[in-house]
Amino acid sequence: MPLKRIAIFASGSGSNAQLIMEHFKRHKEMEVAIVLSNRADSYVLQRADNFEIPTHVFSKEELYHSSTILQLLKNLDIDIIVLAGFLWLIPENIIRQYPKRIINIHPALLPKYGGKGMYGDIIHETVIANHDLETGITIHYVNETFDEGEIIYQNKCLVENTDTTEKLAYKVHQLEHLHYPRVIEDLLKKTEKASLAL
Ligand code: GAR
Repeated sequence: MPLKRIAIFASGSGSNAQLIMEHFKRHKEMEVAIVLSNRADSYVLQRADNFEIPTHVFSKEELYHSSTILQLLKNLDIDIIVLAGFLWLIPENIIRQYPKRIINIHPALLPKYGGKGMYGDIIHETVIANHDLETGITIHYVNETFDEGEIIYQNKCLVENTDTTEKLAYKVHQLEHLHYPRVIEDLLKKTEKASLAL
């Protein structure tokens, strides 16, 4: 049976990407085929190198005004695109070609605290300032608008009185690490090979 192939897009440290690459390292039916980033200095590229997974760094021009990224995904026979801390919008030409095959993780309980500019500590600071009793993670399909695609999975944690932004960020990251690889695997199991379906 042909392997199902994952492309990870990430802009930053890539701790989620790390856990995903570890999860699929010895998987018999699925693999991470490439890690793409918009930043040449992203630590995620180093992490991918450590797993001997190919990487590709692209510019805004390349992503939004050429078809090279789409072509690269096609050439690699990618089945699912996983965003793991990727902070740019995915362009329409890619979204159209990968219906229900692009997913994102967001460090909040969407629809709360989504949208452009809502990422990282800004979210956790807002959760604390609003005295929310709980926060969590959302894994969702990606569409043309930031953080608005159909929700696939959510998981919650409590916000304690003593929680600082750092503590909350840590808790939410732990939740992401615990669930994202498994949710990706479950989704891929249910997804036909892209080359057969498209
Ligand atoms: C994660 O918390 C992810 O949810 C968030 O970026 C972080 C990346 O961490 N993504 C967003 O906020 C997208 N709107 P990592 O680089 O350590 O995986």
